[in-house]
Amino acid sequence: MNTTTLERPETLLRALRDQLGAQAVLIGDDVPARNCNDWSASLPQRPLAVVRPTDAAGVAQAIATCRKGRLPFVPQGGLTGLCGGAAPQAGWVAISLERMVGIEEIDPASATMTVKAGTPLETIQKAADEAGFFFPLDLGSRGSCAIGGNLSTNAGGNRVIRYGMTRELVLGLEAVLPDGTVITSLNKLLKNNAGYDLKHLFIGSEGTLGIITRVVLRLFPKPRSTMAALCALKDYAGVVALLNAARSGLGPLLSAFEVMWPDYWEVITARGGVRPPVAPGHGLYVLVEAQGTDESVDAPRFESWLEGLMERGLLADGAVAQSLAQTQKFWAVRDICAEFGQILGPHISYDIGLAVARMDEFATRCKAALARGIPGCESVYYGHIGDGNLHLVSWVTGLSIERQPKAEMDAIIYGLVRELGGSISAEHGIGTMKKPFLGHARSEAEIALMRTLKAALDPDHLLNPGKVV
Ligand code: FAD
Ligand code: LAC
Ligand code: ZN
Repeated sequence: MNTTTLERPETLLRALRDQLGAQAVLIGDDVPARNCNDWSASLPQRPLAVVRPTDAAGVAQAIATCRKGRLPFVPQGGLTGLCGGAAPQAGWVAISLERMVGIEEIDPASATMTVKAGTPLETIQKAADEAGFFFPLDLGSRGSCAIGGNLSTNAGGNRVIRYGMTRELVLGLEAVLPDGTVITSLNKLLKNNAGYDLKHLFIGSEGTLGIITRVVLRLFPKPRSTMAALCALKDYAGVVALLNAARSGLGPLLSAFEVMWPDYWEVITARGGVRPPVAPGHGLYVLVEAQGTDESVDAPRFESWLEGLMERGLLADGAVAQSLAQTQKFWAVRDICAEFGQILGPHISYDIGLAVARMDEFATRCKAALARGIPGCESVYYGHIGDGNLHLVSWVTGLSIERQPKAEMDAIIYGLVRELGGSISAEHGIGTMKKPFLGHARSEAEIALMRTLKAALDPDHLLNPGKVV
């Protein structure tokens, strides 16, 4: 039998630090607290080291070191993930993209932007804007999340209804495989059917098949008008009617359709101190946004569309933003959930995919089942309902995150998801938090194929092991 003597991890990591520089490798107690967890309810664990390369070659060197010491390694972007995907374990090495930041090129003729994978989403949005373009991906975590993390989670967010998920916004990428091979596939062509489209292996696979180092993004024409309305409705049938009216009345201009249940409204006003422009006491609340090309035509058209709905009795109440500042205030009502940590205290967040028609049935039954099944359990409901994506957060007041009855919540929520034929993750991914429930949303054959792909690319199971499948 062949045996190999592994070098001590500390020796290997110090050698890597000599190669990449002191700023690139932080070992032991020097590992910052932020690299010990993501935004999820998983518990922080200090990795052996955090490696912060500045290019794909540096990532490959870090991987070579990990392979030599048989050390598991996890890619980290902005660490805003909500499922434990970027969370390290003791004895692992975190490979953080935080120093791989910057825009390499904007190509106006192809309408593409090539960026390093650690670049924050907001930096990309601003650079696109300054160049006269629009990059439509938008999430509440925009200031902290990185584009490599967005690709790896196939992030959704606020404008999926118009532009699709992250997968639709990517033309090419560069990634480092678990064996250290660099795959440079910085395709800029919209049409390219030359063999397998390899980028899709890395998009949405949550850092289990490779580490993305550069990305070619699609840019879009900059909207010249943005209209927004906050609408109050009597019931969920009204929400579905409003969605259909928005699809037919606003056509391709419809850019967001965000729904908030009354429990969300109650929490953000009573506990979050938000003063929305629409009074409380309604069945449901919807933020509708449309973006067009000509303010003078689009804004009056949007207002008359809403007036028509009011006259038909579809809306119980509504407010239309009269300026960009007001539009931002409307969005603040929806974005405030980023502060649920302070507003609600420790809580567990969920990200359900469901048929639009069954959202309210799910919310009503789930809320009742949680309250009935778990003493003191509260929950609130909101989400990107135009995309069939419902978020909910649940908690028991006064319990630390470790003591929240997550297993009981999971059983109730995912049991109902399975019964209603939904998905356990619409946009946040699986990570570790939802792994036991993958079988609720994917068949055995699908999971087996995922494992075959993982084993083919990472036979030693060193890249983010135990995540997703
Ligand atoms: P991280 O948390 O660092 O990592 C996420 C996963 O990707 C991990 O599995 C990690 O290992 C892997 N990874 C990271 N970088 C790379 C890389 N370069 N190569 C390979 N793998 C990598 N998500 C939505 O989809 N829609 C929303 O509307 C939304 N809103 C949010 C609002 C708030 C306030 C917060 C905190 C989160 C929200 N999220 C949302 C979740 C989160 O922001 C997204 O999942 C985001 O895409 C994660 O990016 P990140 O850079 O923080 O990734
Ligand atoms: C949102 C996050 C939770 O939509 O995905 O606010
Ligand atoms: Zn979301």
